[in-house]
Amino acid sequence: MKLLVTGGAGFIGSNFIRYILNKYPDYKIVNLDLLTYAGNLENLKDIEKNPQYRFVKGDIADKDLANDLVKDIDVVVNFAAESHVDRSILDSAAFIHTNIVGTHNLLEAAKNNGGKRFHHVSTDEVFGHLGPNDPAFTEKTSFAPRSPYSASKAAADHLTMAYFHTHNLPVTISNCSNNYGPFQFPEKLHGLFITNLLEGKKVPVYGDGMQVRDWLFVEDHCEAIDTIVHKGKIGETYCVGGNSEKPNIEITEKILELLGKGEEMIEYVKDRPGHDRRYAIDFSKIKTELGWEPRTNFDEGMKKTVEWYKNNEDWWRKIKSGEYLEYYNKQYQK
Ligand code: NAD
Ligand code: DAU
Repeated sequence: MKLLVTGGAGFIGSNFIRYILNKYPDYKIVNLDLLTYAGNLENLKDIEKNPQYRFVKGDIADKDLANDLVKDIDVVVNFAAESHVDRSILDSAAFIHTNIVGTHNLLEAAKNNGGKRFHHVSTDEVFGHLGPNDPAFTEKTSFAPRSPYSASKAAADHLTMAYFHTHNLPVTISNCSNNYGPFQFPEKLHGLFITNLLEGKKVPVYGDGMQVRDWLFVEDHCEAIDTIVHKGKIGETYCVGGNSEKPNIEITEKILELLGKGEEMIEYVKDRPGHDRRYAIDFSKIKTELGWEPRTNFDEGMKKTVEWYKNNEDWWRKIKSGEYLEYYNKQYQK
């Protein structure tokens, strides 16, 4: 099988490429990535010489490029996105461009090249947020996005389903909860808090720290996408979750404990505007129909993640200093 993975130089995409090439050494992967601030080829250093793998620097919204690449592959797995909620609050233009225009362009390329199999990687944030006693999101929950990021992802999900209904494009979608694990950019909760503490800095907890997320170890998400790509029913969406609802303050305390730091390292800061209070996922559909469920429990995943950041200081220090961007901009400038 030949896969076009978009956004493969980011956090989840790079974990997915590694996971697929380990599991299916005869598969071929083309990684199309624009190398925005979040794209880092160091995430794939161990793979760059693998003859089954090819990197292409480019924009998923580039019509000719998408068309050329899609021609030659069997499946598109679309990870490419602007993914950070706080950035979408500051400036959402890139979110509209990549998440909506870019996804539309890939759908067009898939349609115009014989109707290629298309898996779209999406988020639970399209469903909005929950109160403490509300039932978890399911595939039947109505969309109610509340940030420019989640609104742009919701638009892409709608477009993907529209291409199934209107053009018979063989699509699937996964709506996943919060991921954590190796190679997560140090602007998201885990990456930022672990690296701040390793640098001796405090961790900025938004508001009261009681917002709840359902945390999933990144390899489990990769396995869920693999399962859907191979066994998923065309035209269906699948909710993917970690069975691990935790308030942010509990994540913070766990990180402090694993790094041997005290509560004095917590700094409560102004809340995120429109901060979603709670996400929770009911993943019974993918469990009963496709046999997937998360393998990594919270304590094990947290230990692995903290250890990874401790052992890969060079990786995150270059990011935090901006050094990695300078290097790759030079390397890949046209
Ligand atoms: P990330 O920000 O780490 O990586 C995004 C990647 O996309 C980067 O490599 C970036 O260079 C690339 N990219 C951005 N714009 C592009 C463009 N126009 N053309 C080509 N490449 C482009 O994101 P992530 O956390 O790995 O998330 C990957 C996907 O999974 C996203 O679609 C996100 O919405 C979804 N998702 C993320 C989570 C999570 O917790 N991180 C949870 C559920 C779903
Ligand atoms: O639910 C899936 C989504 O999870 C993905 O679609 C997004 O791409 C991904 O970024 C993530 O969104 P969140 O906004 O939930 O993740 P983030 O790591 O930014 O924040 C997690 C929680 O921690 C959230 O309630 C905000 C809080 N937070 C975050 C940061 C960066 C803090 O309290 N302080 C911080 O400095």
